[in-house]
Amino acid sequence: MSLIKLIKFESLGDERGQLISLESNKNIPFDIKRVYYMHGMESDKPRGFHAHKDLQQVLVCVSGSCKILMDDGKQQETVELSDSSVGLFIDKMIWREMHDFSGDCVLMVLANAWYDESDYIRGYDVFKQLMSGENK
Ligand code: TYD
Repeated sequence: MSLIKLIKFESLGDERGQLISLESNKNIPFDIKRVYYMHGMESDKPRGFHAHKDLQQVLVCVSGSCKILMDDGKQQETVELSDSSVGLFIDKMIWREMHDFSGDCVLMVLANAWYDESDYIRGYDVFKQLMSGENK
């Protein structure tokens, strides 16, 4: 099964421009508890390099483009986000790395929980070990 779970948002556009509305448990598959966004990234400075024990997220590249690598311990897949009307759902226990940011990239993340450092798995070896137990 592919790790790339894209959600297409309806774009409410008219001659004045586009508008996209994101709503908990409607076009976002969880209760939104936190929103954060990243900008000013450099293409040669990748970010992420972690998984979450419980957190679910939807990533939306609201400007520019970037690539997201996902890894569930068995397979790795990379997707490019370049459309502000598309969200990438990332479930818990998925290792992710964000890279190849365009100069104008703004990456917004919706999450179903408040920031909690104890929910992070920041070591790839630890992640691989946890997932090898899962996959047995
Ligand atoms: P970090 O996890 O390193 O970002 P990335 O996953 O993109 O590489 O986060 C950068 C800093 O911001 C780090 O000190 C943790 C802090 N932070 C918060 O305080 N709240 C948040 O919601 C997030 C995502 C990060």
